[in-house]
Amino acid sequence: MRHILAGLVLSSTLFACAWAEQPPQIYGVNLGSWLVLEPWMLPQEWLDMGGQSCTESCWTCISTESSFAKAYPDTVDTKFAQHWDTWFTQGDVNTLKAAGINTVRVPLGYWIVEALVDRSHESYPRGGLNYLRRGLGWLKDAGIQAILDHHAAPGVQSPDQMWTGNCTTDVQFYTPYNYHRALVWTAVMTTLSHLDPNFGSVFAIEAANEPIMDAALTPNYGTFQKNFVQVMRAVELTLGISVPSSSLSLSVPASVSNNFTAALNATSSATIFSAEVQAALLEAVPILLDIAAGCGLQTIFEASPFKRSRDSLVANFIDVNWQYDNPSNPADVANGPQAYDNHLYYSFGGVAAADPKSYMTSICNLRRIQADAAVGDSPLWFGEWGLSTQFNATDEFLSEWADAQKLAYSKGAGWIVRNALARQWSYLEGLKLGFLTQDPAAFHDPNVCVPYMNSITDGASS
Ligand SMILES: *[C@@H]1O[C@H](CO)[C@@H](O)[C@H](O)[C@H]1NC(C)=O
Ligand SMILES: *[C@@H]1O[C@H](CO)[C@@H](O)[C@H](O)[C@H]1NC(C)=O
Ligand SMILES: *[C@@H]1O[C@H](CO)[C@@H](O)[C@H](O)[C@H]1NC(C)=O
Ligand SMILES: *[C@@H]1O[C@H](CO)[C@@H](O)[C@H](O)[C@H]1NC(C)=O
Repeated sequence: MRHILAGLVLSSTLFACAWAEQPPQIYGVNLGSWLVLEPWMLPQEWLDMGGQSCTESCWTCISTESSFAKAYPDTVDTKFAQHWDTWFTQGDVNTLKAAGINTVRVPLGYWIVEALVDRSHESYPRGGLNYLRRGLGWLKDAGIQAILDHHAAPGVQSPDQMWTGNCTTDVQFYTPYNYHRALVWTAVMTTLSHLDPNFGSVFAIEAANEPIMDAALTPNYGTFQKNFVQVMRAVELTLGISVPSSSLSLSVPASVSNNFTAALNATSSATIFSAEVQAALLEAVPILLDIAAGCGLQTIFEASPFKRSRDSLVANFIDVNWQYDNPSNPADVANGPQAYDNHLYYSFGGVAAADPKSYMTSICNLRRIQADAAVGDSPLWFGEWGLSTQFNATDEFLSEWADAQKLAYSKGAGWIVRNALARQWSYLEGLKLGFLTQDPAAFHDPNVCVPYMNSITDGASS
């Protein structure tokens, strides 16, 4: 995993009552480039595998999992098996544990559920699910909990991005066909999270990473959000899990109460759910039967009562203020525990002027948490950020920059550093170089923001 880590801290109070299984303070990292490979995080390994480094836009060469799979149909699965096997290991889990990390965010592609890939025109490596299961099992044994992040959604949710698995300007996620596939994915992941013992570390599922910011380009995204929540809750109600503060209830017919897929099949005709949710549940049934057979989970799927290990999962969304142009608010469709995620990168421009003082003034006066809370998007965590800058930062500045961001994000529900290459991108690298404190809860200088507070400039406010 080397340089891929990012940090996450969630403050305690917001979670204490709702989600009993969560530790009072959460410190985490993204497992970036593991199950959704982004070549810029591992440039040499990517070239060694047979990938390419494009000089132009990422669609001009082999820069994503799909273009790799297309170029190497015969060897893609073995090449990726090797990557999955070595990029994230038991040793990495031990290192994370020793660094005080207790949560990870796991970016996933829709293709982790292989049946969802339309092989007539889509190609992706196969076999990732077993590595995911193994990794989640290690995390569970280490007492580290996980967020499953639907990072690369079917049809691609953002143009020209390697993290979507398919670098293209032809964005097709915001269509009935691909929303549907994402909902089937959600049914499968929710089921595994509750029934597969390896998934015992999972506490949240994120609907879709970083939708297009202009909501005019994401038609019916709000309906998808609503259906996403309903799919999660339908699976949970089928398992006999009561969903706190939910308006939904369901009784599973006794005739199928000892067979999960049969029970889910029955739930798929429950009219409390929309037709689209019903259809997604029904389509998940044969996929789950296949996974159960392949992973040896049949006896668990057919146990009575269903041997689930935890309460309702947290439905996690990118916050409403990520989008503009009249976005739909995920808080409006809450049914059971929900949490929100925002990503803040100064290095891509548009947040603050490119100098240390502007960065500090901006972060020390961040208003995003309040702006989100005002419309119900709370608790909010910062699921991706980093120490990267648009200028050459001194070591001294990077320590202040780390402190100030941690301080700002901890006022909400916490933070997740974007994990990646050396110095300004990697959590462990940041630790080693001393920019980040060994204890994730600590600061070099808890008063680092004092000189910058209440300034006029507030570039990073929502
Ligand atoms: C990538 O996206 C394009 C445009 O939507 C699509 O035609 C193509 O089939 C996709 N490729 C893969 C491998 O999914
Ligand atoms: C699903 O339920 C229908 C009735 O609603 C039943 O006819 C069918 O056999 C069931 N299929 C499975 C796979 O359990
Ligand atoms: C459980 O239900 C599925 C249909 O969803 C069926 O294929 C399977 O045979 C059932 N298992 C048992 C033990 O009845
Ligand atoms: C950062 O430093 C490098 C090497 O010293 C230099 O080439 C580059 O132009 C500098 N970048 C900025 C943004 O100042």
